[in-house]
Order: sequence, then C-alpha cells, then structure tokens
Amino acid sequence: MFVNKPPMGFNTWNTFAENISDEMIRETADAMVEKGLLAAGYNYLVIDDCWSKRQRDPETDKIVPDEKKFPNGMKAVSDYVHSKGLKFGMYSCAGVRTCADYPGSFAHEYLDAATFAEYGCDFLKYDYCYKPKDADGALLYRKISMALRSCGRDILLSACNWGCDDVHKWIRSTGAGMYRSTGDISDSFVSFRDIFVSQLDNFVYSAPGCFNDIDMLTVGMRNRGNVAASGCTDVEYRTEFALWCMFAAPLMLGCDLRCIDDATLKLVTNPYLIRIDQDEEGHPPFIVREGWNNMRNIYARVLSDNELAIMFTNLTDDYAGNMCFALDEIGLPISSGKALRLTDAFSGEDLGVSSERIQLSLEAHDCAVFIAKIADAK
Ligand code: GAL
Repeated sequence: MFVNKPPMGFNTWNTFAENISDEMIRETADAMVEKGLLAAGYNYLVIDDCWSKRQRDPETDKIVPDEKKFPNGMKAVSDYVHSKGLKFGMYSCAGVRTCADYPGSFAHEYLDAATFAEYGCDFLKYDYCYKPKDADGALLYRKISMALRSCGRDILLSACNWGCDDVHKWIRSTGAGMYRSTGDISDSFVSFRDIFVSQLDNFVYSAPGCFNDIDMLTVGMRNRGNVAASGCTDVEYRTEFALWCMFAAPLMLGCDLRCIDDATLKLVTNPYLIRIDQDEEGHPPFIVREGWNNMRNIYARVLSDNELAIMFTNLTDDYAGNMCFALDEIGLPISSGKALRLTDAFSGEDLGVSSERIQLSLEAHDCAVFIAKIADAK
C-alpha cells in the first residue's frame, strides 16, 4: 500500500498494555466516532501486544487470540471496527517472541500474514524483540512485507525496530509505510523531547511512502496507564503534539479515548496542526535558526498552496526569552517585495502580514506554530 500521508489513529499500548479486551476495543471504536476523531482523520484502531495466547495452536501452528480477552475472536472485533468506518490494526514481531513474551512471527511470516488477512486486518505493527542473533533484520522486514503483499488484503506495514541497524537507510526499500526510529516513549516532557531531538538529522528520510514514527503520542494520558511517568502539563502536551505535526510524524493517539478530556480533544483535532502534519507535498522541515544545542530552534516547512509552517520551540527547562528570524533566512529577502501573512495554528487567529522579521518570546517547554501564506509586503 502506498502511504501518501502520515497514518493517524489510536494504539492500545501506551495506556492499556495487556489490559485489552473485546469490550474496550468496541468502546474505543465508538468513542473515535462519537468524539469526532474519525472525522478529524484518526482512522486506524490498532491492537498492540498481548492479544494472543502464550503459545501457538499445536495443530495448526497459528497464533490464536486469548479467548478471555477476545471471546468472540478477532474477526468479530475487526467487523465491529469496520462497521464504524474505521480501519483495524494488529501487532506481531519479527523475532520468535513479542516484547511481552507472546508468539512472534519469525519463520511464520506467511502463515501469520494469512491469519491477519482472515481477521480483516488493515495495518500491522511489526516489532523487533527476540530476533535470532544471526537473522538479518532488513530481510525479516522484507519478508513480512512480501507476505502481506501476498495475503490478498491491503495491509499497511508499520515497522518497529526502534531505530536499530540504521533502519532509515533501508526501511523505505522494504515497502513499509512507517517506521519507528526510537525507543519507547513515556508520559513526560523529557521523554518526548529526547525522542524528538534524537531524530533531527533523520527527518529528511521521512516522506510520502514511508514516514518516521517517533512513537505513539502520550498527549492527554495525564499520567495514567502503562507508560505513565512524571506526566505533562497542558503546555507540554501542546508542544508534543505540535512537534509531531511539524515533522510529519504518524499521529497515533495513546490516551484512553473513552474518557479523553476536552482540552486534549481540542488539541488533537486542531485543523491547522493536522493540516501541517498531513500536508500532501510531504517536504521535511528545516532549521531556520539553531539555538542552545537544538533546545531553542526555529523551524520552517514548505507546504502546499504557497504556504509554510513555522515553529518556534523552547525545549529548555528554565529559560524564557526572545526568539527572532528575518524572512531573508527562509528565502524571502526584502527585495522580493514579499512577506508572510501569519495564522496562529493554536487559536486560528489571523495575525496579519509580517514583513522583514518574526519575533516572539516563549516560556520554557512552550512553542508557537504559524501557518504562513506568502503575501505582498505592505
Ligand atoms: C515495544 C514497542 C512498543 C510496544 C511494546 C509491546 O518493543 O516499542 O511500542 O509495542 O514493544 O510489548
């Protein structure tokens, strides 16, 4: 499947880990529709690790769902998810066991791809735990990709090898639609900041076809669930979501959508930020000004329709202060007679035309994001 925009959806891992069930998946599917998340673009509902029994069926060798969690089997869950207009995602692993010690797909790739097709699966997250030492990781991703391409269903491959083995150099050639580039996120500012900064040199490899997945969002978790850590403030969640959008990362929500709070819902359905994330041209951002070892950077990204996205970040812990760049630095010299009409991406407010320079001040952990339209200078 050709993935032309960063995939959007929900994944069970961040909040639920092994506490997944038929009931909570159906309730989540309902919530995604009722709360307008599907309408905003979140169309994949993905079940992560811990859905199967601990061992394969001894007769068929197939992975089998845990009947305590999924008493009606996976096809029934998938049918329900599809009946809501959503797409259904599942999880397996390139190694012999999954990270939580359930059967992995190593040496069972074609059998498992056929099983996922029987379930009506549209998306497969494919992890990297318990990979035999001498197995070639790239070949394992090629193999599952070929198995999925042979199974009779269009299934998006979501690779998850945490950035090992220089994955950005070869993953696109496997046919995967997205690839995890880092270790696991937890619900704290430091966690998402470090993950984001670790990928600054690699976002140029993220483009239509295969997007750099910097992990499921913790936005709105409010320090509850599996990856709870120190938790984040509203300002920090805003920064997390905006960074993911600015860098065209897949937007996989990780909080409990059945009880998502209003502030989180408003943030994750923000049409300006989603428009940046999903921009059809898929160009990478560039650093306009680097500051404090990437803690106070200004980024710009060329968008479709003669627009740009501009982001100011203050990822320091305790410094507030002015940040500024001249339009010349993004290729709009005064002599061009051109300027930028800015819209605040968080509020939607039209801020009018800025000529020559853009300047503002940010508190620690905060950010500002603008959609800028090329306009005539005043
Ligand atoms: C990790 C992966 C997580 C989650 C977990 C399940 O390897 O990075 O996102 O899938 O395994 O056990």
